[in-house]
Amino acid sequence: MTDTTFTPRVFSGIKPSGGLTLGNYLGAIKRFVGMQGQMETIYCVVDMHAITVWQDPKELANMTREVAAGYLAAGLDPSQSILFNQSQVAAHAELGWIFNCVARVGWMNRMTQFKDKAGSNAEKVSLGLYAYPSLMAADILLYHATHVPVGEDQKQHVELTRDIAAKFNHDYKTDFFPMTTPVIEGPAMRIMNLRDGTKKMSKSGESDMERINMTDDADKIAKKFKKAKTDPEPLPETVEGLADRPEARNLVEIYAALDDTTPEAVIAQYPGAGWGTFKPALADLAVAKLAPISEEMARLMDDPAEIDRILAVGSDKARAIAEPILKKTYDIVGLLRSS
Ligand code: TYM
Repeated sequence: MTDTTFTPRVFSGIKPSGGLTLGNYLGAIKRFVGMQGQMETIYCVVDMHAITVWQDPKELANMTREVAAGYLAAGLDPSQSILFNQSQVAAHAELGWIFNCVARVGWMNRMTQFKDKAGSNAEKVSLGLYAYPSLMAADILLYHATHVPVGEDQKQHVELTRDIAAKFNHDYKTDFFPMTTPVIEGPAMRIMNLRDGTKKMSKSGESDMERINMTDDADKIAKKFKKAKTDPEPLPETVEGLADRPEARNLVEIYAALDDTTPEAVIAQYPGAGWGTFKPALADLAVAKLAPISEEMARLMDDPAEIDRILAVGSDKARAIAEPILKKTYDIVGLLRSS
């Protein structure tokens, strides 16, 4: 349910912890761009989240620019949306600390992403990785964001954001923070790994063959789709026939998301098609949609000073919204500011 007492405002973010994937593009960036103009939109490169696992400093700065370039190349317009990197707005860390004091350890222990990332190594991972969701709640609530478009994997974190807002409001007898709605819709909510349709496509997967990177060229994209794992059956005649066929369903959903249509329409276009027909069609579609974006990303990356300038302007705009909200939060909590 959307909180109607707050002005509609979108916030979302992407970690610069590796190159952008087709999952980031279809599950996030493409949808972010689609929300521009409908309400106020704020998009962030969450570099402070990236350092919850080790990042090479030079590479981190470079990846921060590359993610910004990905947003811009996909159609984010800095005159319509605020685009900035998290670490340039100190209020994120400050509100994050307050939320560390609101969120409960038991809540963090239930976070499936932490369990997946920490695995059997939980004693050795950073404290930041554990507290990651409360910084994410700060990202969102610092702008009183009402809508957060994310892929399915981030749903639990947005639900935790609601829990943090509710506990803060309850503990301090206020209604200061909104109940944010996760926006998770369309065929691209969970783009899967091309080698294993039960696992999410991610930046950090072991093999490069399991993901499409936004910087892959046409040959690589075609090769990866050609080698994508499938079952031996051809495509079904109706979309119901994709149940229990994770790899087939994934390829159909990727096609649908790239073509701005539905899995039903894709099946109607290719009823009973063999992989020898469908995979090349999917590769052609992906190249047609992604090549202009990757070319534009490369062009933007040739002028890092321009990206830095855009991020500086965005950071100023973000600060102008965030700082009064942080100040009010300090007042509510009773943190004395004497100057
Ligand atoms: P990150 O950087 O892992 O991913 C960025 C966005 O891409 C989506 N996504 C996918 N969607 C569909 N299929 C996939 N295979 C896939 N892989 C990634 C993610 O769901 C996400 O929307 N914690 C967040 C970043 C974050 C954030 C925030 C998001 C920090 N603060 C505040 C929203 C609001 C993350 O790690 O995303």
